[in-house]
Amino acid sequence: MNDPGAEYRFRDRAGSLIAEIDAALDRGEIDEAGWHARVADIIRPAYLAAITPQAQSGHSGDAATWEHARGLLADAIDRDGTFLDVGCANGLLMETMVRWCAAKRVRIEPYGLDIVPELAALARSRLPRWAERIFVGNALTWTPPMRFDFVRTNLEYVPPRRRRDLVERLMRDIVAEDGRLIIGVYSNADPGGPGLDDIVRGWGYPVAGQVERPHRTRLNELQRVFWIDAPGVSKGA
Ligand SMILES: C[S@@+](CC[C@H](N)C(=O)[O-])C[C@H]1O[C@@H](n2cnc3c(N)ncnc32)[C@H](O)[C@@H]1O
Repeated sequence: MNDPGAEYRFRDRAGSLIAEIDAALDRGEIDEAGWHARVADIIRPAYLAAITPQAQSGHSGDAATWEHARGLLADAIDRDGTFLDVGCANGLLMETMVRWCAAKRVRIEPYGLDIVPELAALARSRLPRWAERIFVGNALTWTPPMRFDFVRTNLEYVPPRRRRDLVERLMRDIVAEDGRLIIGVYSNADPGGPGLDDIVRGWGYPVAGQVERPHRTRLNELQRVFWIDAPGVSKGA
């Protein structure tokens, strides 16, 4: 059956390289482990060679542009709780989310997960106070030590045909029963096609909230975040 989630194209600087890896998976030349390994082979050297904390998290700007690009994630946090960054890289988002939430008097306890062991090690060395909270694993298969009130991810962290599985898996096993899954920040490479939020709604997950803001320099490009609440939220209301 045609899955619009697998057709969705994210805007990504490494988009053409990722497209080649997707095509190799579709042709059966690599398996899913090979897909993750080849994506990691792009990310690992670039992030580890970077000299700014932002670039070690895949962002090409400085602290101010990082805040513009990621600060809207804090809009998804509406109460105190644990926050898991799925794909934490060097841990910069864990750190800055604590600050952005504190500015609105919300206290989060950050955790991180990354598929690249060297990046998790970098996060632990940058953030020794949270070293025990930074894990290595693939979001599709990792066994969490607990559930988290807020879980952030991006759907491009898995092969296109596994995006729906990623959402299902995180909601089933990792988000707390009254918790929230936050998807983003992402940009659509094909504004003519269906939105990612509509695709996720079509998978049976009502979108509980969303925010967007124009990219700092590419003003016609919108950066988006949306979130899904676990059923326990409405049950408790
Ligand atoms: C662009 S960085 C994100 C940094 C930061 N969390 C942010 O939102 O800006 C993406 C990170 O996700 C990690 N990653 C990719 N696929 C993953 C997966 N399946 N499971 C866990 N981490 C993954 C990569 O190794 C990389 O460090």
